[in-house]
Amino acid sequence: MMKLIIFGPPSAGKGTQAQKLSKKYGVPQIATGDLLREAVAKKTPLGLKIKSYLDTGRLGPDDLIVQLIKDRVSRPDCRNGYLLDGFPRTIGQANELDKMTRIDLVLNIAVDLELLVERAVGRRICKNCAAVYHVKFNPPKKQGVCDKCGSELIQRDDDKEETVRKRLKVYMEQTAPLIEHFKAKGILVDIDGSVGIDGVFDQMVRAIDKLKT
Ligand code: AP5
Repeated sequence: MMKLIIFGPPSAGKGTQAQKLSKKYGVPQIATGDLLREAVAKKTPLGLKIKSYLDTGRLGPDDLIVQLIKDRVSRPDCRNGYLLDGFPRTIGQANELDKMTRIDLVLNIAVDLELLVERAVGRRICKNCAAVYHVKFNPPKKQGVCDKCGSELIQRDDDKEETVRKRLKVYMEQTAPLIEHFKAKGILVDIDGSVGIDGVFDQMVRAIDKLKT
């Protein structure tokens, strides 16, 4: 059983690392951003309610997000644990998570502000499988095409520079205070996110394997 939170500001590399860790440890990545974008694309009732929040870089209402997580973690593939990517993001969400379960470890990725903006603006994602690429730091083998499933790569609507800066501001105001919440529980490990993808991954694997011994 392994329940982890991959924490950090927008475009710090949470999704990139969660996908790699999910493969290595065989537990699912639960990315609220991916779940919400899927709901918007399918125009579900949740998607219709949440679209304007995503478009403007604001956080969705806690009650909707907490329900989304409760539904997702109750699925059979979460029996042996999961990686939370993008949740919790407010003190209210963290308190609800505390009522639901006990988290083993929070991996907190730190990256300088301007590098975060560059990572977000150059990001491309697969329309079909949500794999993450970067035009400069992690390009696909064939431009505009997903290495994993061959589908088209697109830029997220909220990755325009102005919206990215808004998301960073929201992070500083509403999400960064959670660092103290996790520190008080003794479950936070800081990860240097400014190095390459493999270097970040190695730090995370070391922290997780320490937990298991
Ligand atoms: P969400 O999708 O969660 O966005 P985010 O937290 O802003 O995080 P990102 O997906 O932007 O970045 P990431 O850290 O996963 O980085 P990535 O690996 O892609 O949320 C979107 C929206 O949904 C929110 O604004 C909000 O509206 C709503 N929402 C979601 N969760 C919510 C919640 N709990 N409550 C309320 N609302 C919620 O990497 C970024 C780029 O950098 C990629 O191109 C990648 O290839 C590259 N890269 C990654 N690592 C490295 C590295 N080490 N070196 C070089 N390049 C790298």
